Amino acid sequence: MKGLFITLEGGEGAGKSTQSRRLKSALESAGRDVVLTREPGGTPEAEKIRDLLVQRDGGNWTPMAECLLFFAARQMHVETLIKPAIAAGKIVICDRFTDSTIAYQGYGHGFDISTIQQVAKLSLGDFKPDLTFILDLPVADGLARSLKQKDMAGGKENTEDRFKKLKIDFHEKLRQGFLTIAKHEPSRCVVVDAGGSADDVYNVIWTRIQNAL
Ligand SMILES: Nc1ncnc2c1ncn2[C@@H]1O[C@H](COP(=O)(O)OP(=O)(O)O)[C@@H](O)[C@H]1O
Ligand SMILES: [Mg+2]
Repeated sequence: MKGLFITLEGGEGAGKSTQSRRLKSALESAGRDVVLTREPGGTPEAEKIRDLLVQRDGGNWTPMAECLLFFAARQMHVETLIKPAIAAGKIVICDRFTDSTIAYQGYGHGFDISTIQQVAKLSLGDFKPDLTFILDLPVADGLARSLKQKDMAGGKENTEDRFKKLKIDFHEKLRQGFLTIAKHEPSRCVVVDAGGSADDVYNVIWTRIQNAL
């Protein structure tokens, strides 16, 4: 069987983790070997870099250093986990990939997008996902979902703070960024309306994947 590399992208609360878990069990039921992974991270080395990126207490990295850390982690992840799995005929499902760096660091934080693309080319060559699902959701809906999830997990975050206008603006830039990426690469990227039920979203993704298999 032919290996396949599928990524899920989109903002916070869009349903990436939910859909990637469902997809894994559906593909396994269909008899496929599936590797479910995520970024940043996915290998022991890349998870260490993830800690540097997500647990740091503030804006200590320059944008370029941050970009290089993302791609250092990604290069390890691709070479040691993703490519070998694909070569073995497995389906790799990755929760976030290069598009998230372009959306967050580029469209969101304003780091030069062509620089990110050059770093991507340098570190990954022409390696790209076969298929990318961009889960698209109005910003307020995505934030409400992830907020509800954190509340259920007993999170103590200040809810008003999380809805500050600045945050909404940032997530709006992210959303438009993901949609722009999809527009530039229509054969790789499928924009999925993530506003429906988890079942509805899943059905759209599953139909598209069956075409690709
Ligand atoms: N289609 C959906 N409709 C309503 N709630 C959803 C849907 N998909 C996911 N959720 C819920 O929203 C929250 C965020 O989903 P999650 O899959 O973790 O998103 P992401 O990984 O994109 O941040 C979770 O509590 C999840 O159960
Ligand atoms: Mg998630």
